[in-house]
Amino acid sequence: MGFDTADDAGVFRLTEDIAIVQTVDLFPPVLDDPYWYGAVAAANSLSDIYAMGAKPITALNIFAFSEKTLPAEMAAEILRGGADKAREAEVPIIGGHSLRDVEPKYGMCVTGIVHPNKVITNAGARPGDLLVLTKPLGTGIITTAGKFDKTTPDVIEQATQVMAALNRGASEAMLRVGVHAATDITGFGLMGHLMEILKASRVGAVVRWRSVPVIEAALELASKGVAPGGTLSNQAQVLEYADWGDTPEEVNLVLCDAQTSGGLLISVPPDRADELMAELEREGVSNAAVIGEITHGPTGAVKVV
Ligand code: CO
Ligand code: CO
Ligand code: CO
Repeated sequence: MGFDTADDAGVFRLTEDIAIVQTVDLFPPVLDDPYWYGAVAAANSLSDIYAMGAKPITALNIFAFSEKTLPAEMAAEILRGGADKAREAEVPIIGGHSLRDVEPKYGMCVTGIVHPNKVITNAGARPGDLLVLTKPLGTGIITTAGKFDKTTPDVIEQATQVMAALNRGASEAMLRVGVHAATDITGFGLMGHLMEILKASRVGAVVRWRSVPVIEAALELASKGVAPGGTLSNQAQVLEYADWGDTPEEVNLVLCDAQTSGGLLISVPPDRADELMAELEREGVSNAAVIGEITHGPTGAVKVV
């Protein structure tokens, strides 16, 4: 499996029973705290493996930095954050690569395994499926506000915990229940990543905005016009496919908000939705919600109600 359906990771069948799943992700600091930046970057890198229904088995660090812009203690803290998160995920970091760059960047290349018939792709969503989102939105808006001192440490802390949470529990829950499609919410925001599922599956969707979990502070910041550039370009990209109805502008922005290490978006058959919600709860995924459903189309069309 390669690029065709904009899936979260590449999949290569090794044997009848085992496919390897590979992904790489890195980005500049989204937080001032180096330890938590490292932890969030690692959680984000692992997320694409979880989104495919695979089990991560090994990771490699990728780290770009310069002693001129990043003191050695800070560099160590970033790596410690990543190492702790990988340990939590029970994934050994078996190597890596570093290079010099004035703007630091950190992330991981992660390898996972999955049974070739059990890969959860973007392409399996069917009309009638319910859509479940497992983390609240708004981290892009909040980290941008953080860069410009437009929010409080409390709010940053809230967003940090959301971003640093592994999607492992959510992935294991969806595997136990059996679902049709899944992806993780990252740079293209909820609407952009939903669109990838809809196009790959040739279906449409209804999103009920009042049901979408959101970090409260993000709505307030969005109403003041705080949003990262990525969020604004996401909004422009989905415009022609989305019927926004009378969705308030700040909600519109949050639904398009570019996330770092966001939750899983899962397309589940309606008769298994209750079981999925129960399994998510058992895994301690406390903010999960049913946010809408899959429709016959037209392909890629989203109606926000
Ligand atoms: Co992804
Ligand atoms: Co990715
Ligand atoms: Co070498």
